[in-house]
Amino acid sequence: MPRITVNGQSHDLDVAPDMPLLWAIRDHLNLTGTKFGCGVALCGACTVHLDGEPVRSCQIQVRDVVDRDVTTIEGLEGKTAKAVQGAWQRLDVVQCGYCQSGQIMTAVGLLSANPKPTDADIDNALDGNVCRCATYVRIRAAVHEAAKELA
Ligand code: FES
Ligand code: FES
Repeated sequence: MPRITVNGQSHDLDVAPDMPLLWAIRDHLNLTGTKFGCGVALCGACTVHLDGEPVRSCQIQVRDVVDRDVTTIEGLEGKTAKAVQGAWQRLDVVQCGYCQSGQIMTAVGLLSANPKPTDADIDNALDGNVCRCATYVRIRAAVHEAAKELA
């Protein structure tokens, strides 16, 4: 029975060790902020942090996260996360919302690694996060706004 740590809490899961992490998060831990989009690493809707780095939870098996820290949108905290979430609200980034937890997880990962990203850095980091509503311009502006706040 794999034991995994999600948002600081440890869980013994009665699941196959090769279950995708996304299934475990949504169906077994009921953390539904992380979305299923494509299932094949093409959309970024399922992005969570693994030891602080953005990863595609549809492509990682439960056995790969044993003894590591998984953070979902529900457990995101800290200065960078607050700045990103605040900028997202002020700039009214969200349209339908489906892709946005993945976008925010990626944006927080970017700003944690690169506190002053250029437009190209932002486009590059968020390239794999697809938004059907095309909120890309507001996402880029919100990342810049969060970076300003953190400077
Ligand atoms: S659901 Fe994982 S990348 Fe699309
Ligand atoms: S806000 Fe609708 S898919 Fe991105």
